[in-house]
Order: sequence, then C-alpha cells, then structure tokens
Amino acid sequence: MKIAVIGGAGYIGSHTVRELLDQGHQVAVFDNLSSGLTQNLFSEASFFEGDILNTSALHSFLSQFKPEGLVHLAAFKAAGESMIAPEKYSVNNITGSLNILNEAIASGVSYFVFSSSAAVYGAPKYMPVNEEHPTNPENYYGYTKLAIEQYLSWYDKLKGLKYAALRYFNAAGYDIKGRLTGLEKNPANLIPVVMEALIGKRKELLVFGNDYDTPDGTGVRDYIHVNDLAVGHAMAFKQLQKTNSSFIVNLGVQQGASVLDIIQMAEKVSGKKVPYRIVERRPGDPASLIADPSKAYSLMGWKAKHSDLETLIETTWKAYQSQ
Ligand code: UD1
Repeated sequence: MKIAVIGGAGYIGSHTVRELLDQGHQVAVFDNLSSGLTQNLFSEASFFEGDILNTSALHSFLSQFKPEGLVHLAAFKAAGESMIAPEKYSVNNITGSLNILNEAIASGVSYFVFSSSAAVYGAPKYMPVNEEHPTNPENYYGYTKLAIEQYLSWYDKLKGLKYAALRYFNAAGYDIKGRLTGLEKNPANLIPVVMEALIGKRKELLVFGNDYDTPDGTGVRDYIHVNDLAVGHAMAFKQLQKTNSSFIVNLGVQQGASVLDIIQMAEKVSGKKVPYRIVERRPGDPASLIADPSKAYSLMGWKAKHSDLETLIETTWKAYQSQ
C-alpha cells in the first residue's frame, strides 16, 4: 500500500516507517523537523519537509504522492506543558489534525491510522483499562487526542474515511536491530530522563512521589516497546483493508513497572548507579495505569513481543551509548 506518514521523522514515527518499509509498503514522510530528526529518515522513503499548519504544503504532498493510507503522529505530547500552554496544543494538535483530515479526504485517502493515547481515559476507574473505560482526560493534551478521535468518527460517518485510533500506553525502547538511534531533544518521559541521569547529562532523576498506593510507592506504568507499537500500525492497515470498518484499540502490555523497577533495571543493564532524589508528586499523575490490550489481539492478532523491561532498557541504553 502507498502510505504517508505525517510525523515520520519522530520517535514513534520513524520506527513505524521502518516497519512499513520492511513489510513492503511504499512510504513517504511529511515532517517539519521541529522534534523529528533527519537522522531518522530512510533512503527508501521519500521525504517532504513541511508543516501541518501549512495546508498548501500538505495539499501538494498528498496530491503528488496520492497515498491510500495515512498515519498521523505529528503532535506535541507533553501533558504538563499542555496545561500551561493549551493554545500551542489547540493549534498544532487540533487545527493541524483537522488540516490533515481535510487534505486526506481531498486527496482520496481511504485508511487513516491515528496516534492516540491512554491519556484520553484520565484517572483510571478500574484496571486494567479497556477501550470501554470512560474517557475523561485529566490534561489538555489528552483532550486533544480525544477530540481528534471524535472528528475521525464524524469523518467516517460523513465522508466514509475508515480509521484506526491507536491508544498507546507508555512508549519506550529503541529499534531492536539498532537501525534507529536518534535521541529525543528535550525528553520529559521517565526512561530517557533516567538515561540522561546515567550519562551525566542531567545531575539526577527526580522521582515524582513514593507514597502512591503501589507495591513500592512509586508510579506504575505499562511500558510498551516502540517496535511493538510500529507493528501495531502495520496491522491496523491490514485490518482496515480487510473489514473496511473503523476501530479503536489500546496498545499496551498489561504489565506494570514502577519508577524504582525502571531505575533498578537501568542500573543492571548499564552497570552504573542512577543518581536520583524523591520529590513531590507531579500533578495529574495517576498511581498506576495498565492497559487491557486484549481487543488488539482478538481484532487484529496484535501482541507485544519485545516489551519486557530488560529489552526496553537495553535498547534505549544502546541508543544512548551510540551517540
Ligand atoms: C505521559 C503523559 C501521557 C503521555 C505520555 C507520552 C502525563 C500525566 N501523562 O505519561 O499523557 O501520553 O507521557 O508522552 O503527563 N516520572 C518520574 N520522574 C520523571 C519523569 C517521570 O518520577 O522525571 C514518573 C512519573 O511520575 C510516572 C512515570 O515516571 O509515574 C512515567 O512518567 P512519564 O514517562 O512522564 O509518562 P506518563 O506520565 O505515564
């Protein structure tokens, strides 16, 4: 299939491009390189530098390439920042996504795979969280993801666009074959921050609270390897093609790791101590967030294969070592 990947030079985007190419798809990347990296591009995929706020750039990209499928991962994703600067998230995540949707319709895209997030659920009312869980985002970032899911549902009804919304849990790790090592510029997520503390790029890791109702008191998350996420995108296209009906699925592992588990594994893998300090809880953080990924399995046969903690940390450590 001809597939356009918007945001394909980013962290999850580049792993997705690699997987789609490996599966024989013809891929073109559209990215403004604001957080994406040229280092993450592959010669087999054509590249168009452009911004999703520039509708004429989007238009010429899509009308030239004429893709049947499109993956949209071009978004800001810092939940904390979205509460302080919602305008930035409105413009990029909402207006930008609507631009993509309209241009996708205009150029005849049939299948749309959207990078959504577990942030659409908000504070979990039960665990593991399945797709029936109420959506009540706790931060504006999560709201922007939910809003796009709703626009997609309307465009399905009104325009016949078939979509898959993939609700990622905590994406982590780097390509298991070492083909992608571009590091995120200003990481705020736990594992990259742990890596920066290990290599001395930052003085220490701040652990946001150790008085949660979890086995060791620190926050528990469902970490999923980015190669597993990438495979999920490829499978979503197969499923859309097979059934021609839209769907929403969680991509997670149903396994929890605490902040201290991550620190411990990082120390084991690197052979070094992680300098860290316990500080106040970060506002809006739930104690635990674990996915029920059974729908992704029953619907499209998707199952995580590389998401054990050791592989997650080892592949990330290798990427940091290679820089
Ligand atoms: C965050 C976002 C989520 C988004 C995801 C991907 C929030 C509430 N959620 O998930 O919407 O989809 O990133 O970008 O912001 N931690 C520390 N010290 C740190 C960083 C993190 O102790 O310096 C802890 C957190 O408290 C949490 C765990 O590590 O318990 C994971 O945090 P993080 O990697 O930021 O991901 P989430 O907050 O789960």
